[in-house]
Amino acid sequence: MNKYHQFLRMRRSVRRFKGDPSTGLGQRPIPASVVDTILHTTTFAPSAHNLQPWRFVKVASDLGKEKLGDSLISKLRADMASEGAPQATIEKRAQHSLARISKAPLIIILCRDKTALREDTKEEEIMAIQSTAVAGLQLLLAAEAEGLSGSWVCWVLYAQSEIINALDLPENWLPEAMFFLGYADEEPQKSQRYLNEDLTIIR
Ligand SMILES: Cc1cc2nc3c(=O)[nH]c(=O)nc-3n(C[C@H](O)[C@H](O)[C@H](O)COP(=O)(O)O)c2cc1C
Repeated sequence: MNKYHQFLRMRRSVRRFKGDPSTGLGQRPIPASVVDTILHTTTFAPSAHNLQPWRFVKVASDLGKEKLGDSLISKLRADMASEGAPQATIEKRAQHSLARISKAPLIIILCRDKTALREDTKEEEIMAIQSTAVAGLQLLLAAEAEGLSGSWVCWVLYAQSEIINALDLPENWLPEAMFFLGYADEEPQKSQRYLNEDLTIIR
């Protein structure tokens, strides 16, 4: 196997990140130039009609994380309460989720510009969603290339308008996913993959 395949097969989701080595507190910071390189590489993803519908929100400050966390948690609480979840369960889940946000050194919210469409049809919208998702994978691989790790988090889908309001984003930037990125502080378990032979039909 050549080094490119090795690299592509190496990426794994990581959810625990190293603290700051100089203080032993907080998170090990990610240099701004590294974040720029990752986002620049992300923009080389393919997209339908080359419309590049992806948009990025960098959330690294405590205030930004607090606003993001508050918007997600209040929606989570409301959703769980309307489903009849017990208060203790809601609180446990809320605290766990808030901790994940505050412990992530960097959060990138991947948005889709809903106006970046060739035509206003269902198919074109699907293409734009697919294009944005491709950028998500490119972002994870670009982070890996910079020695970072992270994971895709789909939670934003449940609170799109709340996030737009809380972070004062343009109305047409729909949050599609967010990525928690940092320096890995865990060894992921062995990857379980189906065999491509079992997933392929030959005609
Ligand atoms: C669309 C999508 C949504 C995901 N949502 C979450 C999520 O909300 N929380 C999470 O911890 N991981 C999430 N993941 C990461 C997957 O759980 C992970 O990629 C999968 O288990 C395979 O593991 P690997 O990434 O280590 O290969 C998501 C991945 C994708 C592609």
